[in-house]
Amino acid sequence: MLDLTPDRASLDPIEIASRDEISALQLERLKWSLRHAYENVAHTRAAFDAKGVHPDDLKSLADLAKFPFTTKLDLRDNYPFGLFAVPREQVVRVHASSGTTGKPTVVGYTSGDIDRWSDLVARSIRASGGRPGDIVHVSYGYGLFTGGLGAHYGAERLGCTTVPVSGGMTERQVSLINDFKPQVIMVTPSYMLSILDEFRRQGLDPRESSLAVGIFGAEPWTNSMRSEIEQAFDMHAVDIYGLSEIMGPGVANECVETKDGLHIWEDHFYPEIIDPVTGDVLPDGEIGELVFTTLTKEALPMVRYRTRDLTRLLPGTARSMRRMEKITGRSDDMIILRGVNVFPTQIEEQILKCAGLAPHFQIELSRRERLDEMTVNVESTDQAAGEEARAASARELAHHIKSVVGVTARINVCEPGRVARSEGKAKRVVDNRNKE
Ligand code: DLL
Repeated sequence: MLDLTPDRASLDPIEIASRDEISALQLERLKWSLRHAYENVAHTRAAFDAKGVHPDDLKSLADLAKFPFTTKLDLRDNYPFGLFAVPREQVVRVHASSGTTGKPTVVGYTSGDIDRWSDLVARSIRASGGRPGDIVHVSYGYGLFTGGLGAHYGAERLGCTTVPVSGGMTERQVSLINDFKPQVIMVTPSYMLSILDEFRRQGLDPRESSLAVGIFGAEPWTNSMRSEIEQAFDMHAVDIYGLSEIMGPGVANECVETKDGLHIWEDHFYPEIIDPVTGDVLPDGEIGELVFTTLTKEALPMVRYRTRDLTRLLPGTARSMRRMEKITGRSDDMIILRGVNVFPTQIEEQILKCAGLAPHFQIELSRRERLDEMTVNVESTDQAAGEEARAASARELAHHIKSVVGVTARINVCEPGRVARSEGKAKRVVDNRNKE
């Protein structure tokens, strides 16, 4: 693979500034952000007042722990525009994430917010190994989802030729990659696997494609999946993280030269890790729920937003800004099977160890005689695999899951193409437990 380490001179100076400089900037911006939210959002003012705190009480970064959390429910309760801190006329863009139940979550941006978002996605693409002049193929969905437009503005900002393909029409994705020869692709890792299948279906060698970097996010994926994709395409696979409530893609990104977790763009977002049960702040290095406070957002400032994502904070490496470890999963996606906590990413890791299995999978939960059962639907790599070969793969996977994850799973190895595909975020768990 090519060495795509960016030139140090091309980085924003703050990316490699001293910790003292970063903390000083954070404190100054945090004071502004708390005051901005308190003065302009009725909900925030009421929440601060109820907790007996005032923006003036923040004298150091650690004082943030005194302030109340914000949750997805607060966004729902104030649907659609109730948490905006600027007059609606100054909001030049809205996005929304489709809630599985009830109203979607609506987020808004001023033109300044869009400007900073573009800068941060440009920074993320550069950290991933993209450069001005590259062709960037964007397969994240365009629309209310932040993925497509977020990636798009960032790629343009970096000075790339941006191809707004959006998700879907996999055959066309492959023809466009062949014809336009992009160096960079931005897509969910699960959809990248569908693109890989389509390369093979068309008899094309993915290693011969022009792609040198894939910037994958919007869903959890493992280092084993990284190796799978890197080997298949002979390209770098780099992780990008973000969420609509905080901005969209580009809150944190891995660096191509280290691929050791995602540097949080701490000049715009202040991270904390909390114990999800007690709400107490945990020291760096401990695993817990990731919480963000925005430092520069105008339209929708967020104070201590609980992401539900589980990870830990680590010191900076390729940049001075702290890293977050690859996300294990969301607390919402955690399966509790007979007392054992299981994340879909743990199952993904075990599948990738089995040579006869393809990385497409879905977990089905059911209840029999009041006992929960987990079935892993996964595909054989080989269309021609007979019953015996499939049974052997199933036994191998069941064994890995039992010995590493610690649960008993039923394994259903089906023919290639049988497991549901997504064109965006994969749906990893189907819960049928309360359907009987
Ligand atoms: O998924 C924003 C995004 C678009 C990020 C494109 C990266 C690339 P939401 O739809 O609001 O926003 O979903 C946010 O997705 O809280 C995580 O649970 C999950 N997520 C996002 N990126 C990653 C990642 C976009 N790199 C939610 N690894 C977040 C694991 C991720 N999970």
